[in-house]
Amino acid sequence: MELFISFLLMSLALSFSHLVSASFHDHFDITWGNGRANILNNGKLLNVSLDQTSGSGFQSKREFLFGKIDMRIKLVAGNSAGTVTAYYLSSQGDTHDEIDFEFLGNLSGEPYIMHTNVFSQGKGNREQQFYLWFDPTADFHKYSVTWNPHQILFSVDGIPVRVFKNSEHLGVPYPNNQSMRIYSSLWNADDWATRGGAVKIDWSKAPFVASYRNFNARTCSRSIDCSTNSWHSEAALDSTKQQKLQWARKNYMIYDYCSDTKRFPQGLPAECTH
Ligand SMILES: *[C@@H]1O[C@H](CO)[C@@H](O)[C@H](O)[C@H]1NC(C)=O
Ligand SMILES: *[C@@H]1O[C@H](CO)[C@@H](O)[C@H](O)[C@H]1NC(C)=O
Ligand SMILES: *[C@@H]1O[C@H](CO)[C@@H](O)[C@H](O)[C@H]1NC(C)=O
Repeated sequence: MELFISFLLMSLALSFSHLVSASFHDHFDITWGNGRANILNNGKLLNVSLDQTSGSGFQSKREFLFGKIDMRIKLVAGNSAGTVTAYYLSSQGDTHDEIDFEFLGNLSGEPYIMHTNVFSQGKGNREQQFYLWFDPTADFHKYSVTWNPHQILFSVDGIPVRVFKNSEHLGVPYPNNQSMRIYSSLWNADDWATRGGAVKIDWSKAPFVASYRNFNARTCSRSIDCSTNSWHSEAALDSTKQQKLQWARKNYMIYDYCSDTKRFPQGLPAECTH
């Protein structure tokens, strides 16, 4: 029986469509920036840049409805104050869904903020922010979204930092019926990003550059039901992962909308009690 189950799980796992990126050319289009974003090294590296005239960005060719999506990113080094590197999944339209990472730059030696948010049917306001436990500009680090019908898991180098559970039973819409593309861009946000907009971009340091490599996406194929137990366990947190999540939250989380009672005087959003 056990053998049969593990065989079953293995064959299910093998049926997930697996996009290992040989080349950024295969999976992404540069969408703006007039030459400021480039696919380099035979498609193994993608750089975006920002100068006083423009930022730049790219998007995935395909859309995703659930999946585990990894990208290695190296953020703008040195004085990156006022710059934002956004990396997110989004659908289209007024009632769009969105899963966001945004990296808010800072003065040399001061910490980046990793900002996260989840939109469902056009409504966000679910920010959680973190410092990182490493210098995100010194090397590439893996930022992952594991999105299935049960939950959305944000992780960094395999360490879970945020879980957003499906709380439809509490009347909270969950992103599960609109497919999303991956988007990323580097842009000028010095009206709000660093210390709430107090620190402006030092244009003498431009162009600012962020880099990407090792894109990897595992998705549910049409024939595979994402609600299968095997997919569920993919994102479910075992006790080791739970401990890591608690470690990240305890030591690195600097903002959680779910504890911002001032912001929600009428009561915290329903999913916060989940
Ligand atoms: C997704 O479902 C919601 C209701 O649950 C609906 O308002 C919305 O139009 C749906 N979107 C699509 C693309 O079907
Ligand atoms: C920038 O550094 C300051 C001082 O350490 C810190 O308060 C702030 O959270 C850092 N990050 C951003 C994006 O402002
Ligand atoms: C791409 O970005 C990296 C920094 O991450 C930089 O070292 C490299 O020179 C950039 N390449 C080009 C062609 O701009």
